[in-house]
Amino acid sequence: MKKIFIAPSLLASNFLSLDTEVKRVIEAKADYLHYDVMDGHFVPNISFGLPIVQAITSQFSIVHDVHLMISNPANYFEAFAKAGANIITFHYETAKDTQTILAWVKQLHQLGVKAGISIKPQTKVEVLKPLLGVLDLFLVMSVEPGFGGQVFMPAALEKIKWLRQQLHNSKLTGLIEVDGGINLETAKSCIDAGVDILVVGSYLFKQSHFSKTIKQLKHE
Ligand code: DX5
Ligand code: ZN
Repeated sequence: MKKIFIAPSLLASNFLSLDTEVKRVIEAKADYLHYDVMDGHFVPNISFGLPIVQAITSQFSIVHDVHLMISNPANYFEAFAKAGANIITFHYETAKDTQTILAWVKQLHQLGVKAGISIKPQTKVEVLKPLLGVLDLFLVMSVEPGFGGQVFMPAALEKIKWLRQQLHNSKLTGLIEVDGGINLETAKSCIDAGVDILVVGSYLFKQSHFSKTIKQLKHE
């Protein structure tokens, strides 16, 4: 049985009690903590940045999964690595060409962090073909990046299936992650399509029993 990982999105947590919220996530045995960093330029929203990541990574040990929804992400790779990120995911749409992406991956690996790439709903998944085997993680957006609480876009399922097929056929490793509108029902569709990691924000944080919900989302 393939292991499914849950990555609660901090964006949906109660920012007035971050300490308690992160403790709840860890006690519920979530596998990753997902940080949705937004700059108000690449996406039409501003969320949080380095001080929050630093504060949490200095107190809590979980896989710190940083999703940079920002322009010029490479300007901040070192700062987020120093702030404790274990995975840094940038957006395909922010790089001018494949050479740039290859250089960014090298830079991230030199910083000792895993490299992820994310594609927006309008971006065709086939653009990732030359990057299979290069990136450690592929993040398929199932909503338009910028806001939590949106409705899942089923077109993401074909992208997950395509990535799973490509990785399988070419015997390459790489984690497939999905982000946006995940609930019990969409989690099942994504798992059936071949996803490894489910980013869950609003659906999870509105539940009172995190561990029960996390078990249910895994459909194990
Ligand atoms: C969009 C954000 C959201 C968030 C998850 O930019 O990345 O997708 O992580 O939010 P929910 O689970 O509430 O859709
Ligand atoms: Zn995200």
